[in-house]
Amino acid sequence: MGGALIRAMDAAAIAEAAEHIRQGRLIAFGTETVYGLGADAGNDRAVAAIYAAKGRPSFNPLISHVPDLKSAATLGDMDDRALTLAEALWPGPLTMVLRKKEDAPVSKLTTAGLDTVAVRVPAREAARAFLAECGVPVAAPSANRSGAISPTRAEHVAASLPGPGDGGPVMILDDGPCDIGLESTVVDLSTETATLLRPGGVTLETLQDLIGPVALAVSDDHAPKSPGMLSRHYAPSASLRIDADAPADGEAFLGFGRASAPDGLNLSETGDLLEAAANLFEMLHRLDTSPDAKIAVAPIPDTGLGRAINDRLRRAVRN
Ligand code: TXA
Ligand code: MG
Repeated sequence: MGGALIRAMDAAAIAEAAEHIRQGRLIAFGTETVYGLGADAGNDRAVAAIYAAKGRPSFNPLISHVPDLKSAATLGDMDDRALTLAEALWPGPLTMVLRKKEDAPVSKLTTAGLDTVAVRVPAREAARAFLAECGVPVAAPSANRSGAISPTRAEHVAASLPGPGDGGPVMILDDGPCDIGLESTVVDLSTETATLLRPGGVTLETLQDLIGPVALAVSDDHAPKSPGMLSRHYAPSASLRIDADAPADGEAFLGFGRASAPDGLNLSETGDLLEAAANLFEMLHRLDTSPDAKIAVAPIPDTGLGRAINDRLRRAVRN
């Protein structure tokens, strides 16, 4: 890899970075809100690498970034409300949660197994040039370690994330300091009532002026949700048993490493947590054939990405 990790976001750096994205590598890039840690949203393994680099202990659905409305419409169903918001506020700090299109080029890890997809067209011209050059939607949470504050300069990214040799981004596209410094507003348009899931650069009032009433997200206990919290998440209809060494009668087995069953699936035969994370939602969906189905899951080590996998499995059991 030639050159420094931080590169001015010019045409040459953008072209190089886009090629890295298509090869499944991570790229950090500037937007008007915060710096994003991007990967090909259609590549489960690349998306798993985002979680590993951030040290995130849970899988939340990620935003897919696209250069324009036309690309956005290939990912999710855009109704009149979505088109009105897009017309008025895109490109800009607004993320729309839409019903996912059947053939959307977005992996199950990107949406955390949900049938909705979050889409955003960032304001910065350089960011859109990068996304256009990638030719694939780019999944990107903020480019910081989990729990750290969101990065608003390329230097913050370099200081917070591991280096290229340790699972971090192979390049940081420097587009100067962010204008907003706060994550985008997230509005859910996948249901009849539009719901504000995360406050941000676009205000509730602006949304309501454009599309009428917008509800505020509340958690299960009816308290306002803290930013980024979701009460809705993927849960299998089948029953789930975790930390299982072997399947009982009638159970389908989701193995890991040597804990395997002849008729089951295996998250990673070599015990690779990155591979396991990449396979998690895809394989759960495959085994989740009916509400009567029973799935037993092998023990997953509670280290690194294993913590996020276990968090997701525990929540799926509780449902
Ligand atoms: O400003 C931003 O939005 C930055 C920059 C890099 O674009 N990105 C960002 O991404 O903040 P992330 O992944 O950290 O935030 C995603 C937010 C979370 O609150 C997540 O719960 C919500 O969007 N979200 C994503 N997909 C969703 C879905 N299908 N349903 C409901 N909420 C979703
Ligand atoms: Mg963040």
